[in-house]
Amino acid sequence: MGFNIAIDGPAGAGKSTAARQAAQRLGFIYVDTGAMYRTIALYLLRHHIDVEDEKTLQEALDNISVSISYDNGVQHMLLNGEDVTGMIRTQEVSDEASRSSAHPAVRQKLLQLQRGLADTCDVLMDGRDIGTKILPDAGLKIFLTAGVDERAKRRYKELEEKGESVSFEEIRSQIEERDYRDTHREVSPLCQAADAVLLDTSDMDLDMVVSAIVNMAKERMNA
Ligand code: DC
Repeated sequence: MGFNIAIDGPAGAGKSTAARQAAQRLGFIYVDTGAMYRTIALYLLRHHIDVEDEKTLQEALDNISVSISYDNGVQHMLLNGEDVTGMIRTQEVSDEASRSSAHPAVRQKLLQLQRGLADTCDVLMDGRDIGTKILPDAGLKIFLTAGVDERAKRRYKELEEKGESVSFEEIRSQIEERDYRDTHREVSPLCQAADAVLLDTSDMDLDMVVSAIVNMAKERMNA
């Protein structure tokens, strides 16, 4: 096993953009585990699976193969061989991923895929339970967060730039709802690992966040 970096934190903290860039600068493989949960969620939505019905959920999971491929360093998600990378960023998929990821069977399904990737190469993996559950021995753990208002502002700006008209209040309450679900579920809730470094990015821009991650990683690797 190489040197692994675990980055956890709530929705909208800017984890994935910062993590992707930091991984690139460090020459690590970036693994976005949220995309894996989103891929399963897309299948569940397409097949109208009631996630509260454990038997139906398990049967659905048995029919799902989730795999990952890289094209020029960009992570692609494959659902039963189909590249669904462009289809998993909708609000509907976000909500379904948040709901379905609370089920142990869904988490179990992705555990081996995530650990397997970390076993074979140096990874920078981001998610909710990477430092606490998936890679408890990671060489560096970071809990990356930002205040709810700041996260809602960033999301609002992002959607505005895409030309989508949305209400700030609505975005804020969606973020709060997702935070609540992600931190209150019984299995692997979002929480800071005891040995994780807290990085509050409320007053940092992207470059500062990326540099902070890269510097911490270099320090640990040289220690
Ligand atoms: O990071 P994201 O927004 O793409 O994640 C989508 C959902 O997946 C999120 O609401 C919680 C879930 N998730 C999880 O439970 N564990 C992870 N390691 C990553 C994501």
